[in-house]
Amino acid sequence: MAEKLIIFDTTLRDGEQSPGASMTKEEKRRIARQLERMRVDVIEAGFAASSEGDFQAVHAIAGEVKESIVCSLARANERDISRAAEALRPAGRFRIHTFIATSALHMEKKLRMSPEQVYEQARQAVRLARRFTDDVEFSPEDGSRSDMDFLCRVLEGVIDEGATTINVPDTVGYAVPEGYAALIRELRERIPNSDRAVFSVHCHDDLGLAVANSLAAVKSGGARQIECAVNGLGERAGNTALEEVVMALKTRRDYFGLDVGIDASQIVATSQMVSEITGFAVQPNKAIVGANAFAHASGIHQDGVLKARDTYEIMRAQDVGWSANKIVLGKLSGRTAFKQRLSELGVAIESDAELNAAFVRFKALADREAVISDDALVGLVR
Ligand code: KIV
Ligand code: ZN
Repeated sequence: MAEKLIIFDTTLRDGEQSPGASMTKEEKRRIARQLERMRVDVIEAGFAASSEGDFQAVHAIAGEVKESIVCSLARANERDISRAAEALRPAGRFRIHTFIATSALHMEKKLRMSPEQVYEQARQAVRLARRFTDDVEFSPEDGSRSDMDFLCRVLEGVIDEGATTINVPDTVGYAVPEGYAALIRELRERIPNSDRAVFSVHCHDDLGLAVANSLAAVKSGGARQIECAVNGLGERAGNTALEEVVMALKTRRDYFGLDVGIDASQIVATSQMVSEITGFAVQPNKAIVGANAFAHASGIHQDGVLKARDTYEIMRAQDVGWSANKIVLGKLSGRTAFKQRLSELGVAIESDAELNAAFVRFKALADREAVISDDALVGLVR
């Protein structure tokens, strides 16, 4: 059996940090239930210490999700960690995810702490979190811009304290695929106790590289957890899109060689629920979940797909939860798609001459209108 890759969904935490995407407790519960139905391994339900509302949301989700591990974010301090533990208490299995920044820039300008203070605080935080659960994740914030020697020292220290997952955030989306993969690989090679933790990646999409960075770190860095969000929601330009990494791993299993537990047939329903709740529309050309992801407009492609689907499709629309792929009739469409659509609509064409005449009228209309509706099509023929 192949090794498993853990899917850690942060739609309800980092996703909610998308400006304008704030969700109520009830909305978060609905999404959490859907994430569980999709068989996400870990659901980061929120940041319990950040507000009473978020505490209540994490608490409610912890009380009803049974299959996925429920997680809360916590800064590396006693109050945040104990609030997270309290919110998570009803869960069957829960994880505390604690973090502190390790880059020189963040330590000096934001935290105003010395590296030694950060090192001690990171260790203390993990030690404290371990009093509540044996599932503790640690993130060195701005990890991809941190000094390598210091990062190794901090991560070795927190693993010694019992951190079971080490997540290396590319907080500002600065990394590029080969460099990020090399960073994860080097950390795993250099940290003496690295085999006691699962290495995880958390990428932001400021340069549009979040998915590529995550996959590179899995393929050649040895990461075994990806943090991601539905529709790529997240702070600023967003996080790694769940639907994209999952389908890349499944479609190219020959290349990645890893198992992913996600039920892909729930992907479109989840995407549409998140879009409806947050009010963030999904762009039509978005991979996997965009309205055009399985739509064919050009005559050459339509002809190919109607003859053999895999000429122009690498996944089946139904596998991710669409009812079917789409042949969109417009000015680029050819005779094959035109005829096929008419026959699906129950319109019989008697002769080639009739078909040719109707096709000429169709092309003339298509030059004026971008997409031809079924009613307009039937009208043309009759
Ligand atoms: O982007 C980031 O650094 C984070 C951490 C809190 C994990 O979201
Ligand atoms: Zn983040």
